[in-house]
Parts: sequence; C-alpha cells; structure tokens
Amino acid sequence: RPARIIGAPTDYGANRRGVDMGPSAIRYAGLAKQLESAGITVEDAGDLPVPLADERDPEPASGLANAKFIEEVEEVSTRIADEVAATLADDTTPVVLGGDHSIAIGSMAGSARDAEIGVIWFDAHGDFNTPTTSPSGNVHGMPLAAALGIGDFEGVGWANARGLKEENVALVGLRDLDAAEKEAIRTSDVTAFTMSDVDERGMTEVVDDALAVASDGTDGVHVSLDLDWLDPKEAPGVGTPVRGGASYREAHSALEQVASAGVLRSLEVVEVNPILDQHNETAELATELAASALGKRIL
Ligand code: ARG
Ligand code: MN
Ligand code: MN
Ligand code: MN
Repeated sequence: RPARIIGAPTDYGANRRGVDMGPSAIRYAGLAKQLESAGITVEDAGDLPVPLADERDPEPASGLANAKFIEEVEEVSTRIADEVAATLADDTTPVVLGGDHSIAIGSMAGSARDAEIGVIWFDAHGDFNTPTTSPSGNVHGMPLAAALGIGDFEGVGWANARGLKEENVALVGLRDLDAAEKEAIRTSDVTAFTMSDVDERGMTEVVDDALAVASDGTDGVHVSLDLDWLDPKEAPGVGTPVRGGASYREAHSALEQVASAGVLRSLEVVEVNPILDQHNETAELATELAASALGKRIL
C-alpha cells in the first residue's frame, strides 16, 4: 500500500538540541526517492505545525512538573495522532519523521486508535521514564511509559495509546537505562531485548522474537526507530549516542525482517540531529532503513 510522509519537527522533548531539523535532513537525503525506488507510492504531507520552543516556558502550568514542555508535547501529539489515524483510514502507511522521540506518544495513540497494535522499539534507550523517575525531565525519555499509561502519566488521557498492551511491546537493542527505568521495565509486561541478547543470540533471532511479541493477537505493528539504536560510528548525528549499537548490516537486516513479516502498520524515524551529523549520513541511513522496513529489496 502507499506511504505518507508526515514531518513532526520537534526538539523540546530532547532539550532543544537540533532534532527539529530531522525532517528536512531526511527529506534532503532523498526519502521519497528511496521509497519510490522500492516501488512504493509516496505522498508527502509536509510538516505538522509545532510551537516555537523559544516562545514557550518549559515549565508546565500545573502538574507533571518534571516533564519539560509537556503542554507542547500534548498539543503536537494530538495533531500527530489525528494525522496518523487519518492516514491509516486512507489505507496508507504513515511514515512519521521526528523530531525527538516524544512524538511517539502521538504516533502510537493514532496507530492504536481504531485497532489493537503491537510496538517494536529499536533504541539504545528504554524511554520508559516517567516525570517522577526521569533524571533529565526530557519527555523523549518517557514516551513508552506515557503511551502505556504507566506511572504518573496515569490519568493523562491524551497520552494513552488505547489499543496497545504492554504484552505486545518489544524493545530491541537496549544498552543505556536509568536505575528506576530498569526496575519499571522489569516489573512491566513489556519484553526487553538488550544488546547482550543480540550478542548472545544474534539480531535475526531477537527480531523474530520481537515480531512475535508485537504481532501476537494484534492487527499490526508500529515500528519506532530511534537512530541512536545504531552504533554512533554508523549514526553520529544523534543527540544521545551510546557505544555498542546495531551495525549497519544488522539494522538493515532487522528492518527487512519487519517488511517480510508483513505486519507493519506505521513507522516512525526519530532523533536525527543534523547539527551533530557528518555530511548528513545519519539522515541518509534513516531513509535507507525506512525503505527496508517498507519492503525495499536488493534483488
Ligand atoms: N534515559 C535518558 C532520559 O530519560 C535518555 C533518554 C534518551 N531518549 C531518546 N529518545 N533519545 O533522559
Ligand atoms: Mn509551558
Ligand atoms: Mn535513544
Ligand atoms: Mn528513544
């Protein structure tokens, strides 16, 4: 089916460091061409409006005190969710471009609005903090907890991904977790595959398991790809790099597995930071991996 590109140029979830230029960099790297070369019909919906962080106070007006720009996150998440749901209603695959990882709250809410979904979270980080546990107050470290209604996000209705259960969430490639975040992941029903699991079992087996978790009893899978999942040697243009990540070939292979499984419902690519990048190579990698996820094959 066709794909629709939806830009979400935010950076307030990541301490304002330049990931708001991600959608431009990814488009400039030739995303539409890459997808078309894979035989996919592409439509670019442009960027969703995002409030200018300079004109906003990071402090929320009330509540959730340790979640910077939470009102802005809510505003944009609502827009993303509506756009993703409308795209799916057109029988089109949403490809959301971040922006920081807080946009996943909106993508997941939209993807899970009229369906039961699973999620595969390719990331060095768990993004399982809550405003209480977060050491940074940056919402890009909290979207999975928020979407699952975990912790003090509970009762924040807009953040909830209705048709998503913990049992259908698989995290892949973890290697940097905060202490309380670790505990929260352990006590939840999500399935977490660390980089140690990848070392022991190989990426292919791990991704097979992740696909099984995310597609078990669901209508489709949302894939959230944080570019810091890859090793910083391959993807230097990210705000929170962590050594020891997925290799170029492991990453391609993993996303080809996603395509082969035939379960992809929605995709997002986040945390590309052109300011820290070298010759836009991280954005290029993002376009290549998106193409693999949507079915591009070598032969
Ligand atoms: N765990 C750290 C925090 O909560 C880093 C999160 C990084 N998240 C990301 N999407 N890059 O602040
Ligand atoms: Mn505010
Ligand atoms: Mn990350
Ligand atoms: Mn992330």
